[in-house]
Amino acid sequence: MKNNYIIAIDGPASSGKSTTAKLVAEHLGYTYIDTGAMYRAVALYCIINNINIDSKDAEFQISKAMSEISLEFRKINSEYHIFLNKEDVSKRIREPDVTALSSPLSAKKILREKMVKLQRDIVKDKGAVIEGRDIGTVVFPNADFKFFLTASLYVRARRRAKQYADEGIKMDIEQIKQNIFIRDSNDSSRKNAPLKKADDAIEIDTSDLTIEQQVDKVIEIIKTKD
Ligand code: DC
Repeated sequence: MKNNYIIAIDGPASSGKSTTAKLVAEHLGYTYIDTGAMYRAVALYCIINNINIDSKDAEFQISKAMSEISLEFRKINSEYHIFLNKEDVSKRIREPDVTALSSPLSAKKILREKMVKLQRDIVKDKGAVIEGRDIGTVVFPNADFKFFLTASLYVRARRRAKQYADEGIKMDIEQIKQNIFIRDSNDSSRKNAPLKKADDAIEIDTSDLTIEQQVDKVIEIIKTKD
């Protein structure tokens, strides 16, 4: 098998992208890139520095923020960590306030332009599994493989509730459902690089699949190309 395939995995919140992408990357010995974590880290920077993304000079503030931000991925004890200006923010970026801000923030054109460049630079010519919303449509339109993962809103809300519970965050399932619905609607309807299936992406509904089954499906498709 070629060792530098670009594998794009897109889909709505909690559709199984991260788990699948991580395991596929591990199986193939590829780099794994969670682009959502990158948007989340910038959202955290905005929270810490009181940057109002609805202000008149938001574009300028975000652009300035990007020039002050360094993002780095590191794998520590088989877990993927993201560092914002050398600080490990992997846990903090999963909290509800960061999650909520990451969606409207990611609609900003100036931020997306910088992110796309950064994401392409990180991957360079390496084999990589990259997950997000616009990977198959914008970041790597010529990716060797494109997958679009979906799952019912109910299943996705249950998954997110379990993630929160594992992290010790208590949240009502109906509230989670509502939050996911709003975030997906915003991410799908924005002007810049909306969440959408690339025409040539393979759609996988993970609602009734185990993690093992969804990973196997992806790997099987990749291996049949060889
Ligand atoms: O995948 P996630 O839930 O961690 O992503 C957080 C937010 O970042 C999501 O609401 C939309 C945005 N995002 C994006 O616009 N483009 C990407 N490639 C990845 C995430």
